[in-house]
Amino acid sequence: MKLYIDSANLDEIRDLAWLVDGVTTNPSLVAREKAPFEETIAQICRIVDGPVSAEVMSLEADAMVREARPLSRIHPNVVIKVPMTEDGLKAVRVLRSEGIRTNVTLVFSANQALLAAKCGASFVSPFVGRVDDSGGSGMDMVGEVLEVLQNYGFPTEVIVASVRHPRHVFEAAALGADIATVPHAVL
Ligand code: G3P
Repeated sequence: MKLYIDSANLDEIRDLAWLVDGVTTNPSLVAREKAPFEETIAQICRIVDGPVSAEVMSLEADAMVREARPLSRIHPNVVIKVPMTEDGLKAVRVLRSEGIRTNVTLVFSANQALLAAKCGASFVSPFVGRVDDSGGSGMDMVGEVLEVLQNYGFPTEVIVASVRHPRHVFEAAALGADIATVPHAVL
């Protein structure tokens, strides 16, 4: 299983760059750094040689695509993080046709992951901690996501996200998830 660090903090990323296979960021994590978004992503790409997710802020498909194109030009390792919405899926289709990789985030069910995979997402990010918070079982959801994607041989990789503690990492590995993206403190 690959391990990504879920952080936009350059010190945290430098500290664990020797260990991780990639990085995921989100707008809240980047905002904490108080540096320009594009510059933060460029710096992260210089530290870790693996996929680096950078999220679009727009809510409408065309605007997401317009935001994504310059982000994808920052570095070949940039993956565009897109929210799991109807517009997000439309954007994923366009970006895929342009050869731009996407990570569909805020996935809360296997059906959402199925839709994202069908639209050509390179990665899907089921949010285990948030499902647990709402009284569900995040890991049952991850198991269902893996089952559905494996049934049809989708090339989409599953990034277990919203990881809160080491047990989540073990459970992701036991289920055979491709990747877990993990905060610095948990790693
Ligand atoms: O990987 C997703 C993460 O950034 C959100 O995690 O703990 O706020 O649900 P959390």
